[in-house]
Order: sequence, then structure tokens, then C-alpha cells
Amino acid sequence: MLRSLLLCLSQAAWANRLLAGWGLSRRVALRFVAGESVADALRAAKGLNEKGIHATLDQLGEHITSAAEAGRAADGVLAVLDEIQQAGVRANVSIKLTQIGLALDSGDATCRDNLVRILERARAHGNFVRIDMEDSPYTDRTLALFDEMLSLGFSLETVGLVVQAYLYRTETDVRALLGKSVRLRLVKGAYHEPSTLAFPQKSDVDANYDRLAALLIDTALARPASVGREGHLPALAAIATHDEKRIAFARSYAEKVGLSKNALEFQMLYGIRRDLQEALARAGYPVRVYVPFGTRWVPYFMRRLAERPANLWFFVSNLFRG
Ligand code: FDA
Repeated sequence: MLRSLLLCLSQAAWANRLLAGWGLSRRVALRFVAGESVADALRAAKGLNEKGIHATLDQLGEHITSAAEAGRAADGVLAVLDEIQQAGVRANVSIKLTQIGLALDSGDATCRDNLVRILERARAHGNFVRIDMEDSPYTDRTLALFDEMLSLGFSLETVGLVVQAYLYRTETDVRALLGKSVRLRLVKGAYHEPSTLAFPQKSDVDANYDRLAALLIDTALARPASVGREGHLPALAAIATHDEKRIAFARSYAEKVGLSKNALEFQMLYGIRRDLQEALARAGYPVRVYVPFGTRWVPYFMRRLAERPANLWFFVSNLFRG
């Protein structure tokens, strides 16, 4: 119930305003968010690179309400791609489509135009853009736009997608996507979804996660392994979780079928399980950390609080310490 409440609040404008202006929540959020500027994100990415870990930079923001705002968000992503190039860090970018105009107009024209601009810039720099998956009202539109980008000629070297193990539909989506040869990041799913669409029990989500991880690994096996230019390009199969059991399953399944270590990428979030990130990198797997930054950090922060009650208690105990 607490999780549902936090996830609902993460989308309420008043809660966003309240938390964004509060020094304490900003201090606690810094555990999960690299800072407010691109320079902060690049500094975090360099620190990760020094430990043999790649990064994906996410300029936070979602559910914008005007085409002008969507255009500015897309310009921001172009600037991030330029800055990565100039700084020479091993990083690509992740974006949310509602940040660049998804669902603003009925045909998604604003989002499409912004996405094309972003992918053209990424391709020019030989970099890669991962489209995050948001809540279920956007799943079909996200898949449709992703397909459209492939038909416009953007390849798996430039664009990839996220799939969520908690949705019943995902296995069907994944089978269709893998048939088109794409780079997928597998996550459990971070939003509040009804039981008509998503597994309500964690054990079912976990079982589906393992099933989907095996599918990704089988597909990666059939293709040449690639972790690309200077760490921009993720492996075909990206296992994004901090759950040690899911990671152990993916490792042992990949080993059993003979997938080489460099074809199985593990991804985690900034500030979560640094020990595990470093251990996997030392064990020889590509590891990529998702580095969020920017001024619009509240919804992302609330989702992290919702995932783990201990984070909420940490927040509350700081509140009482003043
Ligand atoms: P689970 O929630 O079972 O946690 C396993 C363990 O990880 C916990 O016991 C704890 O030790 C640790 N842990 C997990 N969350 C923590 C937290 N917030 N604070 C501290 N410790 C924590 N979702 C989505 O819907 N769309 C997307 O595009 C993405 N993108 C994405 C990228 C990357 C790189 C990652 C790692 C995750 C996402 N997610 C996402 C989020 C994902 O759906 C999920 O909500 C989180 O990863 C938490 O779930 P776990 O898989 O870690 O498992």
C-alpha cells in the first residue's frame, strides 16, 4: 500500500513542488541522483569509468505539458550527447518519451520529430540511445515509435529499448522485438500497475524475469558478441537489476549455454549496490550504471523510495535529525 501511495504521489504536481523545494529531500535524493548539471553527471560517469564501469546518462524529466518544453528537453539531450563526445567518457544516454512529447498530440508528431533529432545526433557521434519504458498507458505508443525509428533506418547500433518483466504482455513483446534483432534492457518495472496488466506477486515477476533473461541470452548467443566503441554500445542482452538471485540465474544460464561474458551486460542504478556493480566488473562482465541528473528529480526519487521501505525510513530519520 505504501509503495502504491508513493508511486501515485510521484506523479502529483503538488508533491513534486513540495519535495523539489525542500533542502532535506534534495540532500537525500543525492544518494540516487548525480547532481543537477551535466557536469555533475559527467563527473560521476568518469568515476565509474575509472572502475571499469560504463554509464548511461539520463537527464531527468517526464510528462512535460507543451511542445516548447518537449523541444527544450530534446535540445538538452542533444547537448548531453555532445558533452559525452567532448569529454570522452564511456557513456550513452537513456531517455523517456514523455519527456520529449509522447502523448502531447494524437499522432505523437512532437515526440517523433524530437526523437529523430536525438537519434540523428547519436548516430553522428557513433553513440547509442536507450528508450526507457514508462507506465502502461504509454507501452503501445513507445513500441510503435521504436518500430518507426527502425523503419526510418536507425539500427540497433543507435537505438534500443527497455522491457518490463512485471507486465503479462512482455513475453509476447520480447519475442516480436527479438525477431527484429534489437538491443533490450530487461527490468522488473517501476510503476504502479493494475493486476489486470501486471503480476501482483513479486515471486511471479521474478519467475518471469528469469524466463525473459533466458530468452535474451538465447538470442544473444545466436549473434556475434559486441560491446561497442569505447563502451557506448551496450551488449544485446542487458540484465538490469540489483537482485542477486536474478543475476545469479542469468550468469549460470549464460554459462550453461556458452554465451561469453562480454556478451552479457549487467546494469544497475546510480547509488544502489555499488559493491555488486564492482564485483561483476571484476568478474569480467560489462557493467553499466544508470546515472540520472537534472533539476526534475522528484518522480525518479519517489520511485526509488517506493522500491525499498528502508529508503523511506532513511529519509524519515534524516527528517527527525533535522
Ligand atoms: P528488487 O526490487 O527485487 O530489489 C532487489 C534488491 O536490490 C533489494 O533487495 C535491494 O537490496 C536492492 N534495491 C532495489 N531497489 C533499491 C532501491 N531503490 N534502493 C536501495 N536498494 C535497492 N523501470 C522501468 O519501469 N522502466 C525503465 O526504463 C527502467 N530502467 C531501469 C534501468 C536500470 C539500469 C535499472 C537497474 C532499473 C531500471 N528500472 C526501470 C527500474 C526497475 O524496474 C526496478 O524498479 C528497480 O531496478 C528495482 O528492482 P530490482 O530489479 O533491483 O529488484
